[in-house]
Amino acid sequence: MKQVKYQIEDSQQNIIYPIFKDQEICSHVCERLGYDLNQIVNKELGQVTKIHTLGHYSFDSIYFIGLGASQYINTFKLRKAFSKISREVEECIYFDAMHAVTETIDIHQITRLFVESYMLSKYQEAKIGHDSKEIMDVDIMSMDDNIEDDIHEGIAYGTGINYARQLADKPANYMNPCDLVKEAKTLASQYGMECTILDKDTLEEMKAGGILSVNQGSHIPAYLICLKYSKTDEPYTAIVGKGITFDSGGYNLKGNSYGMKYDMCGAADVLGIMKILAETNANVNVYGIIPTTENLVSDRAYKPQDVITTLSGKTVEIVSTDAEGRLILCDALTYAQQLGVKRIIDLATLTGACVSALGDVYTGVFANNDAFYYQFSKAMNDSDEKGWRLPMDEEYFAKLKSSSADFKNSVGKPGAGASVAANFLEAFIEKDVEWIHLDIAGTADNNGTGATGTMIRSIVNMLKGD
Ligand code: BES
Ligand code: MN
Ligand code: ZN
Repeated sequence: MKQVKYQIEDSQQNIIYPIFKDQEICSHVCERLGYDLNQIVNKELGQVTKIHTLGHYSFDSIYFIGLGASQYINTFKLRKAFSKISREVEECIYFDAMHAVTETIDIHQITRLFVESYMLSKYQEAKIGHDSKEIMDVDIMSMDDNIEDDIHEGIAYGTGINYARQLADKPANYMNPCDLVKEAKTLASQYGMECTILDKDTLEEMKAGGILSVNQGSHIPAYLICLKYSKTDEPYTAIVGKGITFDSGGYNLKGNSYGMKYDMCGAADVLGIMKILAETNANVNVYGIIPTTENLVSDRAYKPQDVITTLSGKTVEIVSTDAEGRLILCDALTYAQQLGVKRIIDLATLTGACVSALGDVYTGVFANNDAFYYQFSKAMNDSDEKGWRLPMDEEYFAKLKSSSADFKNSVGKPGAGASVAANFLEAFIEKDVEWIHLDIAGTADNNGTGATGTMIRSIVNMLKGD
């Protein structure tokens, strides 16, 4: 994708022409085609009208994309409208960006939004045995302003998010902990990032009992992956992602584990975030940390009522082997703090309770620090991603009291499961560390379109502070 400065007259390619309801289509286009297009084109938000040029132009078609009333437009609606285009358009095209500019949204924003939305909507779930299709090129038409940087930015976000989605969409027999390690290494070497892989032997020496206990049922070893992106003298932020490449539930076997290949979406998001940071040369210091293992059943698997010792030294009584995410995450959180990090965000497909509460629309957001929450909340807003803050409370934590260990990993009966899980994790966060936990169980994938790469944009934008 690149910037072009042609006018419609000279264009050799089909054109995407965004149009507000309260605006008229350029009169010279109507004159050239010989009739009033305003009578035919549907200008409602997200409506695409294909008009043949019937030899009046050197190209075949103009795709009008309705933007609705200009006074009500916002970036969320623009994303929605732009993502419709990819389904309608097959041939090579120009996007005539200028018609979408308003007083509140400038050409730079339009360009970024268009490129990113277009790429996300062109994403196709990686099918095993098939090469992933190249995304068709679109050139962006703009006269005076230089939008090359915006195009690059849009491509970086689109590519990074699609990369995460592709990793997450792979079935568990093509994306196990070893595959995830390979992926992290490739990414690191591609961008000159430091990459530390703590293997099973190392985890045993460290006594990372949370990760190792969950790993007992699998013949594939567990890993703790740590990527390091350094660009400033500022302190590091850690982004931690749950990397359960398949969650059977363990001995608390799930009745239906269809969809549980997606239990590593947090991990995939972390890799997507690191890729975008590197690709856009972001001025930040970030660790990307991924604990990864399968959660399976075997004669070696951990069992209900086992008592395990986590990396922090805290002991946990296993009430449910299906509450495994918090066990691998608590070790990763401890590790992040051992590295000296004072700001952490974790992403995890953690609880079915969060899905019951918020469905596939809102991500559950937990924070131990209000200022950090507001900063992140603004980033979510600016990124058009939806999250809703849910409570943590010592009364939830009290329910995890155990007679055989410091605490239990699950209450064992229903009630505020997402909050209980967040409180469990909070027990591993030092007092002076700011921390946000994102429960993406409902938003990480949707059955129709596969993985979403949810919260990648918000986290990257928060880190970059724009
Ligand atoms: N990976 C699941 C959570 C999940 C459920 C993600 C549905 C996506 C869709 C997690 O490991 C899990 O099994 N959580 C349990 C916790 C319970 C045993 C305390 C749950 O939510 O049932
Ligand atoms: Mn589970
Ligand atoms: Zn899980």
